[in-house]
Amino acid sequence: MDSCYRYSACSFTWLCVFSIFIVFFISGRFKSFVSFSASPTLESPDHHEPKLELQRIVSTNDQIRAVGSTDDDQQHPNGLRILNTTIIRRKKLKKPRREYVLEQGLALARASIRSVAIARNVTATFNDVPVGDVYRNPSTFYRSYVEMERRFKIYVYKEGELPIVHDGPCKEIYTIEGRFIQEMEHGARRFKTNDPQRAHVFFMPFSVAWMVKYIYKPLSYNVNPLKQFVSDYVKVVSTKYPFWNRTHGADHFMLACHDWGPYASQGNSVLYNNSIRVLCNANTSEGFNPRKDVSLPEIHLRGGYLSPKLLHPPPRNTSRPFLSFFAGGLHGPIRPQLLQYWKGKDNDMQVFEYLPADKDYYSLMLQSKFCLCPSGYEVASPRIVEAIYAECVPVILSEYYVLPFSDVLRWEAFSIQVETKEIPKLKEILLAVSEEKYRKLQENLRAVRQHFMLNQPPKRFDMFHMILHSIWLRRINARLG
Ligand SMILES: *[C@@H]1O[C@H](CO)[C@@H](O)[C@H](O)[C@H]1NC(C)=O
Ligand SMILES: *[C@@H]1O[C@H](CO)[C@@H](O)[C@H](O)[C@H]1NC(C)=O
Ligand SMILES: *[C@@H]1O[C@H](CO)[C@@H](O)[C@H](O)[C@H]1NC(C)=O
Ligand SMILES: *[C@@H]1O[C@H](CO)[C@@H](O)[C@H](O)[C@H]1NC(C)=O
Ligand SMILES: *[C@@H]1O[C@H](CO)[C@@H](O)[C@H](O)[C@H]1NC(C)=O
Ligand SMILES: *[C@@H]1O[C@H](CO)[C@@H](O)[C@H](O)[C@H]1NC(C)=O
Repeated sequence: MDSCYRYSACSFTWLCVFSIFIVFFISGRFKSFVSFSASPTLESPDHHEPKLELQRIVSTNDQIRAVGSTDDDQQHPNGLRILNTTIIRRKKLKKPRREYVLEQGLALARASIRSVAIARNVTATFNDVPVGDVYRNPSTFYRSYVEMERRFKIYVYKEGELPIVHDGPCKEIYTIEGRFIQEMEHGARRFKTNDPQRAHVFFMPFSVAWMVKYIYKPLSYNVNPLKQFVSDYVKVVSTKYPFWNRTHGADHFMLACHDWGPYASQGNSVLYNNSIRVLCNANTSEGFNPRKDVSLPEIHLRGGYLSPKLLHPPPRNTSRPFLSFFAGGLHGPIRPQLLQYWKGKDNDMQVFEYLPADKDYYSLMLQSKFCLCPSGYEVASPRIVEAIYAECVPVILSEYYVLPFSDVLRWEAFSIQVETKEIPKLKEILLAVSEEKYRKLQENLRAVRQHFMLNQPPKRFDMFHMILHSIWLRRINARLG
């Protein structure tokens, strides 16, 4: 036993000395070869062909997110020939263009996602994500998520100063803005890179909520200072670095939960037109473009915490005496109709403008089968996420709203959408939902809950990662069918 251990330790030492020698030799002698091999597409160094490279350089300039999909990832028929040309190329070119290497990695990710889409194969390794109705396609989502974990790299610009840049609110209604920015600044190690040459996307970490707090003149209704800030920020990063001009901002993103996020983004029309805008106020009739922009869920953390009532889902058989519940101010285009028809009219329909002092908001959510989520001044409402936590089926009453994570989630599997003009028939519509269908909706709410949780530190498949995944999908320009 003892000698055996000594023997193996001894041979281990020799092995170490030998490998150190080898490494020293290789790194001194073939430095360029090693630095090339360390590139992100190590798994397929044989894919580099000059012709492809040219094509991609042309296309990165004008249409970075066009999927030039079909050609990039085909297998080469004659492996041997390619091997020889690759060796020659390695001798000639010290380094392949970084952008090319990055695009190759993304092409491989797309190919991998596509192969699953064709097979329509629900992988057996589906541990964290429950398979089911709630996903448009659980296998492609899973594959895409795993590819994201494997490859996705984000560069966070260091320019700008506190408090408006590198920070944001971590409580109350715009929580998600600050939580996301801070996670990108101080956490997210797996997805962050300090080398912008290796980044797939670039994050501009300014907070629109803090702009409103620090540079907006209260009651002036003048959002120009916000626009100016965004314009200046883009000017700084686009002058200092080559990355903005390279893609006309298409691989850059900003994130804002404040209602005025869309206005602030108008400060630079290239950003508005091309960049990925991650917004709570995802109103398509105010320029939100679901093909490139991302809908951000709004969460209300009162005092920075989730109410303990919502933290743990109630037992499945908890009785819910009320058919529906809503309480909220009379603002925006839809709520006046809702309150006009239902406020104080019917005990089944618990609809309030201001909640009486003896009633508790979250308790009513837990006691109701359906939670009404009408848009207010802006399309998003924190009620949607609260209803998911409370396992109270959300009834979405909005127009022009693109629901969060809808590239992946089938909202119809865990919520009900009612058109504004049907508000008078609301009770009828809700009563018509069969007991069986209701159970299914509720079961599905339980299944999507994890995607709407904010964890510290973030967990796989939670809200932080779902936001990243939405950005990832836009960057690789893949649609999950
Ligand atoms: C590849 O290189 C080897 C060795 O240099 C050579 O023998 C072989 O003929 C080459 N193959 C082709 C297809 O060029
Ligand atoms: C699904 O995946 C499993 C495991 O990877 C494989 O054995 C099976 O053949 C696949 N089925 C289809 C229809 O591709
Ligand atoms: C990007 O383009 C703008 C104007 O088109 C120019 O002012 C700026 O210097 C360019 N940035 C770089 C890094 O070349
Ligand atoms: C942005 O898009 C609008 C509308 O399509 C267009 O009028 C404007 O010129 C574009 N701006 C830039 C800088 O591309
Ligand atoms: C709910 O279910 C549990 C066990 O599953 C049972 O003990 C409890 O009595 C049930 N409660 C009601 C209100 O039915
Ligand atoms: C969405 O945008 C349209 C057009 O500006 C506006 O009329 C509507 O009120 C907006 N919806 C909400 C809920 O803000």
